[in-house]
Amino acid sequence: MIPFNLDALPEKLQKKHKNAQTGGLIARLAVDKDYARQGYGEWVLIDALKKLCTASKTVAFPLVIVDAKDGVIEFYQKFGFTPFLDTPNKLFISMADVRASLKLQ
Ligand SMILES: CC(C)(COP(=O)(O)OP(=O)(O)OC[C@H]1O[C@@H](n2cnc3c(N)ncnc32)[C@H](O)[C@@H]1OP(=O)(O)O)[C@@H](O)C(=O)NCCC(=O)NCCS
Repeated sequence: MIPFNLDALPEKLQKKHKNAQTGGLIARLAVDKDYARQGYGEWVLIDALKKLCTASKTVAFPLVIVDAKDGVIEFYQKFGFTPFLDTPNKLFISMADVRASLKLQ
């Protein structure tokens, strides 16, 4: 879990999550360079998001957060992550969007 700045979310989400302070963190997600661009990154990201969905049934949190390295922001944007307004290399996706895109409850 990681704290986030509510003020750096779009206004609609600020209102929706006004009592929330922490999100689920994706950290150290990586694919060996020799195996890059073969779909493994997508596979491990979806696996991480599924695990966070399971965890969120026990510990409620509204967002998944990732600190993206330079050159990787677009990778996360491709999967629906949005940069925080104050920190472009820190991105989030709502658990509602994760559940909807993975067709999970
Ligand atoms: C980011 C990373 C996990 C991507 O892994 P990968 O196995 O190369 O990604 P995939 O092959 O599954 O790519 C999935 C899609 O994302 C795209 N993509 C992959 N890396 C990208 C990048 N750096 N920037 C933009 N798009 C990227 C692919 O083109 C692919 O798109 P497509 O489905 O339209 O063809 C991998 O490059 C990596 O480990 N980087 C170093 C560690 C790192 O920076 N981790 C992130 C820390 S937050």
